[in-house]
Amino acid sequence: MKDTKAISMKGNIMIPGDKSISHRAIIFGAIAEGDTKITNFLEGADCISTMECFRDLGISIDHQNGEVLVHGKGLYGLSTPDHPLDVGNSGTTLRLLSGILAAQDFTTTITGDESIVKRPMKRIMDPLTMMGADMISIHHNDCAPLLIKGKRMFGIHYLSHVASAQVKSAILLAGLYANEPTSITEPSLSRNHTEIMLKHFGAHVTSNGVTATIHPGQKLIGCEINVPGDISSAAYFIAAGLLVPNSELLIQNVGVNPTRDGLIHVCKQMGGNVTLVNKRTSGGEPIADILVKSSSLNGTTIEGDIIPTLIDEIPVIALMACMAKGTTIIKDAAELKVKESNRIDTMVENLSALGADITATEDGMMIKGPTPLHGATIDSKMDHRIAMTFAVANLICHGNITIKGKDCVNISYPSFYEELERLIQSV
Ligand code: S3P
Repeated sequence: MKDTKAISMKGNIMIPGDKSISHRAIIFGAIAEGDTKITNFLEGADCISTMECFRDLGISIDHQNGEVLVHGKGLYGLSTPDHPLDVGNSGTTLRLLSGILAAQDFTTTITGDESIVKRPMKRIMDPLTMMGADMISIHHNDCAPLLIKGKRMFGIHYLSHVASAQVKSAILLAGLYANEPTSITEPSLSRNHTEIMLKHFGAHVTSNGVTATIHPGQKLIGCEINVPGDISSAAYFIAAGLLVPNSELLIQNVGVNPTRDGLIHVCKQMGGNVTLVNKRTSGGEPIADILVKSSSLNGTTIEGDIIPTLIDEIPVIALMACMAKGTTIIKDAAELKVKESNRIDTMVENLSALGADITATEDGMMIKGPTPLHGATIDSKMDHRIAMTFAVANLICHGNITIKGKDCVNISYPSFYEELERLIQSV
């Protein structure tokens, strides 16, 4: 690849808190007894939506500069909100909260923005209804807004057809209120932050391969959670460090839970110079610093059980594949179609506009590289992970990329553009 912009990426970067873990810390803190102190909380719009929903449910939450104090009221301490709960763009808020609302002794309506009301909710409505919940999709389209009439929960064993931590967590949370243990078996293991954190709060959760079980009867006790940096946010800096010539980045404080670290394996498989240093653990979650150096990449095949461990990183992996020698095939990733945008279509459309050789497949995409990319105007479809991927593409293409809706990065990484800019060195 010709060094079109004559830049390199150098320096250290501290990654903001993990989105999945920040949501869970608020949610579990709210239904725990006593206070939960959260440090390095992600100040992104999605996690603020979770916080606001719990305030509407009567939970008092103090929040200042990445530090949050949740004054939990126990499993039965939530009160009826006086208006519909608004989750904004956040699927995690909607699905996890539904698991709790299904078991309350009041009725709630839960909804959100234009994108969230198009995302599938049948995947949580089916198991929660089996557990006894009374849930109605108000427009009868299996999407939000949902009307949830809380009911007594019954323990079930659920065989899920989708590897989704949001579905698994909704079931486990409802299971906290059930008369008997509840378990869920997934086709592949999805992120296990719920299992790890619920244990930290004192719940009795067991895991056996792709099956997780919650044993009810234990109360949650408020605790301290120090949120590790989000590997899904680190992904853009890992890609930039690999793709921009003469780069070296130390990406600090990144959560490297094995159910989230598929990107690291794929980078290595593609020939990327990525090293984990300073490995440690916090609250049961593994953390490391990641050292990345520019590398020549090769195409690869990504399929099967690794997919849930890198599902949110596939857009930036697709960009890396455009710069890699040979063909990259991404399979078993149909879930991409039901994310904040249809990420198969959005990536194929936008990377094609830059001159990439990319084809959509039934459950993923196929990319041939290396292909020099050129500037264009692309539409983020208000999907934060698309906007950040194309900000990285802009570092390596001829000309400039204009990103429509670029401010949607506020969902998960409000200071993203400033941080990216800070690491650019002219050479
Ligand atoms: C998340 C789980 C994943 C992921 C989303 C966050 C979570 O979704 O894509 O960004 O916090 O549980 P699915 O569980 O639907 O795969």
